[in-house]
Amino acid sequence: MKKIVVFASGSGSNAERIATYFAEKGSAKVCLILCNNPQAGVLARAKRLEIPSLVFDRQAFYKTNVVLDVLATQQPDLIVLAGFLWKVPENLIAAYPNRILNIHPSLLPKYGGKGMYGDHVHQAVVTNSEKESGITIHFVNEHYDEGNILFQAKTEVLPTDTADTLAEKIHLLEYEHFPKVIEEWLKTC
Ligand code: GRF
Repeated sequence: MKKIVVFASGSGSNAERIATYFAEKGSAKVCLILCNNPQAGVLARAKRLEIPSLVFDRQAFYKTNVVLDVLATQQPDLIVLAGFLWKVPENLIAAYPNRILNIHPSLLPKYGGKGMYGDHVHQAVVTNSEKESGITIHFVNEHYDEGNILFQAKTEVLPTDTADTLAEKIHLLEYEHFPKVIEEWLKTC
């Protein structure tokens, strides 16, 4: 069975969706959830789903090998960033070339880069009266939101949409596509 490690900073609804999708399919398993925020909702989800989790702080992430070491014990086939807000250090990227996937809630390269996360993205899309937005699933490299794009899906932005209603639409797209894109990628590993 293929092993997936998920990094998340927030609510973790994508992390849960991925975990339950593969629990049903049986072809892969989320074996660990790594988190940089002790208050994050994803930790309660991990507990409920009986997935081990580990919280690390900035010092541990950037100045020690704690995360690399724990990853080495798991030997994941894929690392998935699902709402993970910190930049991934280069030594981690180098250790897992083409094995770290991120999801971004816009049609990159639009609305990507530093500071463009969560509601900031959706607010900017609505403020600019964009006609469409979407999701981008891409490999992670040393620049924010700039790795090779594996998949995109679009949704219409209506004049009546707010950042909140757009966020809901984007989440639905994420739940629909992220597990399937991961599944397809894992077949090639
Ligand atoms: C998602 O919209 C994802 O695209 C973005 O952060 C959000 C995370 O949501 N990077 P959740 O924590 O999975 O609910």
